[in-house]
Amino acid sequence: MRYNMTCQLSKENLPEHIAIIMDGNGRWAKEKNRPRLFGHNAGMKTLRKIVKASSDAGIKILTVYAFSTENWKRSQEEVDGLMNIAVEYFKKEVGELHKNNVKIQVIGDIAGLYPKVQDAARKAMETTKDNTGLIFNVALNYGGRNDIVYAVKALMEKGVLPEEVTEERLNAELYTKGLPDPDLLIRTSGESRLSNFMLWQTAYTEFFVIDTYWPDFDQEAYYHLIEAYQQRHRRFGTA
Ligand code: FPP
Repeated sequence: MRYNMTCQLSKENLPEHIAIIMDGNGRWAKEKNRPRLFGHNAGMKTLRKIVKASSDAGIKILTVYAFSTENWKRSQEEVDGLMNIAVEYFKKEVGELHKNNVKIQVIGDIAGLYPKVQDAARKAMETTKDNTGLIFNVALNYGGRNDIVYAVKALMEKGVLPEEVTEERLNAELYTKGLPDPDLLIRTSGESRLSNFMLWQTAYTEFFVIDTYWPDFDQEAYYHLIEAYQQRHRRFGTA
């Protein structure tokens, strides 16, 4: 089935929140004998398409893993390149996203990012903050463990007593506060790992791992995965 012009996904049982681990940019570039940043740039183009496809399909929330707390260990050149891509993405895309009523949110330790990235991210968030369409979370300098540690600190700073700590209260301090957990998590390029992404929030999330490298991922493959999700029966721990 092809989805060239309009979205033909059934609106029934559409996932509310989709999370994506955009993996395989480096291997995609290597296969083409090109530098890793060539792969990340191609990955940015895929991201642009997938955000549009999400918005067109009526998905409420999309969360993508763009830079983890561990990614700082990569070469200086790659880290700098990824930060430049983030700045370019926010600056170039904000107009189009705003026009499409998309609300951009950065999740993760923003204060630890390069100042120029913080600046571009804050401007994109400010411009789109009142939009009511797709909520687009970009996880930057994000780690699932770090998310939980920050939430615990926030509870302690508020003087919450041990007996008052509940799942709901901790959940309300995470970067994803106020949002439902992802229904569906997609990881490209064949690795079956969470890699410290949304550890708390994915307790009951349906996982889909596909072999395609992120730069080769497209709307058609995306909608096929959403359809496959729509066929799954979620039990949330019940029989
Ligand atoms: C993982 O592939 C990908 C990343 C660490 C970066 C993801 C970034 C983008 C898709 C570009 C858009 C970014 C922003 C900030 C808007 P990998 O490099 O680990 O690939 P490999 O496992 O094949 O080496």
